[in-house]
Amino acid sequence: MPRKKSEGDFEAGGEPTTVDLTELEGVGPQTAGKLASMGYTTFESIAVASPAELAASIGVSETTASKIIASARKRLKIGVETAYDYYLKRKNIVKITTGVRSLDSLIGGGIETQTITEIYGPYGSGKTQLAHQLAVTTQLPIDKGGYEKGVLYIDTEHTFRPERIAQIAEAFGLDPVETLKNIWYARVFTSDHQMLITEKAEALMRPKNIGLVIIDSLISHFRGEYVGRETLAVRQQKLNLYMHKLLKLATVYNAAVLVTNQVLADPSTFYGDPTRPAGGHILGHGVTMRLYIRKGKKGVRVIRLMKSPYLPEGEVEVLITEKGIIEA
Ligand code: GTP
Ligand code: MG
Repeated sequence: MPRKKSEGDFEAGGEPTTVDLTELEGVGPQTAGKLASMGYTTFESIAVASPAELAASIGVSETTASKIIASARKRLKIGVETAYDYYLKRKNIVKITTGVRSLDSLIGGGIETQTITEIYGPYGSGKTQLAHQLAVTTQLPIDKGGYEKGVLYIDTEHTFRPERIAQIAEAFGLDPVETLKNIWYARVFTSDHQMLITEKAEALMRPKNIGLVIIDSLISHFRGEYVGRETLAVRQQKLNLYMHKLLKLATVYNAAVLVTNQVLADPSTFYGDPTRPAGGHILGHGVTMRLYIRKGKKGVRVIRLMKSPYLPEGEVEVLITEKGIIEA
């Protein structure tokens, strides 16, 4: 696993300098500084940005932004690709084990890289527990269904527990300390903070060899800050932008993205299914695989596959134990 001492410390909010941005056409030291401060610290991140987005972020004209993007793309040789190239890229998709055989089969082998997987369900159903488990299983050897990579954990509800990670790591035969050292953890306090952290996190993807990005939970801040009908459009727009950021991380770095989500348990919802996931169509379209977890009888948890591009719906029963999530 490539690790360099000089790279910035995520927790400390340092400014990792991954590449020399002044190598790009139209980028002097000042623009390079602005790019870096806005989270554009890799050629990849610039190459996949839109001119409008980049122009607004660093305060240049869209024409200049277009030039910078084109230059980054040239460096990376990004452009139209043949179906064969796309096929090859898809062939790189890795399925990361959940550590539960029946759940793996339900979802076609594990959670996929290059896509966003969502787990939604009511309070205490086990979403955070699953997130903890995947933060461990991602680090397992490839022949055990893992990805041998690090994890980025974005915690919006302050429910991340390193002690729990250590416990699960031991159950999977991993060294607890090494496992914890491979998880890059960020607490976020507002939706803006969440957007910013996620942008900055991009600079960590390659240096820290991140294979899984967890957002637990995806929209609690968005929901808390944008209440009422009149702000709904703004919220959804912002959420849409955020989903694109996540998808970018997933595809550019061949990483899996796991997001947790709440159900609409709002008693003022008179119509529709009260167990609907929050976030509406924007979120629904953004995620490729959707799982629903709920409490069943005698403490079991039922996990149901609600959406997949190629797998049938179905469900499995699991238990949450000291050793993590296991088959019921
Ligand atoms: P919200 O974030 O509140 O929406 O809930 P959640 O779906 O994230 O629930 P979470 O994953 O936090 O699940 C909490 C449940 O997991 C608890 O009610 C416990 O039953 C169980 N749990 C958590 N840690 C342990 C543990 O160490 N041992 C056992 N046996 N159960 C645990
Ligand atoms: Mg939770």
